Amino acid sequence: MNSQSINISDEQVKQIATELVNREYMQVTPTAELPQQTNLLRETPQTIHKLGKDVVNWVMPPEISIVEQSPSLMTLAQRLFLWSFIYGTAPKRYLEIGTDAGGSAMIVMSAIKALGVDDFHGVCIDPELRLNQTTRDYLGEYFTYIQGKNSPEIMIEAAKISGLFDLILIDGDHTYDYALMDIMMAIPYVCRGGYLLIDDAAHSQVRDAISYVIENSQLIDCGFMCRHSVSSEVKIPSGRWQGEEYRVGGLYLLRKPL
Ligand SMILES: C[S@@+](CC[C@H](N)C(=O)[O-])C[C@H]1O[C@@H](n2cnc3c(N)ncnc32)[C@H](O)[C@@H]1O
Repeated sequence: MNSQSINISDEQVKQIATELVNREYMQVTPTAELPQQTNLLRETPQTIHKLGKDVVNWVMPPEISIVEQSPSLMTLAQRLFLWSFIYGTAPKRYLEIGTDAGGSAMIVMSAIKALGVDDFHGVCIDPELRLNQTTRDYLGEYFTYIQGKNSPEIMIEAAKISGLFDLILIDGDHTYDYALMDIMMAIPYVCRGGYLLIDDAAHSQVRDAISYVIENSQLIDCGFMCRHSVSSEVKIPSGRWQGEEYRVGGLYLLRKPL
């Protein structure tokens, strides 16, 4: 997936996943109301398209190589979807909640560069921005960074920089309450017809937050855009999600009606 291979043993993967489960499921008890039907997303049917022989031979924009190179934790399918979604919809105002090393921002930027759009602006919110100089140089003047946990005040600050957003990528804290707050707080700041793209929709707490929003808001449920996820086979030992595998990955799309 990434050009830099990661040397990590199965044992280490399980240990990291177990630590994540302990942090995300054992120490944080959800207090927001949970959806009554928690299986909503898993029931979404999967569609598999098979390409025919007569495929048009487009020339691939060289910028797409960033999909492989960017320091994102997204699966290849997620990276490809994000790149294509940006390339296909050409958003002018983009907000990212959860940026880390800037991998997803780089993918967005590369699609914008491939389009040749120069009135694009992105805003990144993260309490721990970890972008190196190469990434900052790549994103250049097109991005503004707000260091801090997402909050109503920070959302207002972001909107003051850019106005309403065409696309908001939500990839911050994946516990139920935070995922739900991030989605709910984003709704006023996405333009009509704009999109909320939620990463790690395969994570059970994020999945249930999305289900709650679908049941309790006017947003259009566009469904899973990417159903690829990564499992460490570590099971959640107790609580509401007991017995479920700890999983990350998956992209879910919601849209504000026109
Ligand atoms: C999975 S990483 C984001 C990865 C990035 N979107 C990518 O694909 O390259 C999640 C990030 O969310 C940030 N985060 C955690 N809680 C947050 C919050 N309340 N508000 C905003 N960001 C948060 C973390 O610091 C972390 O860098």
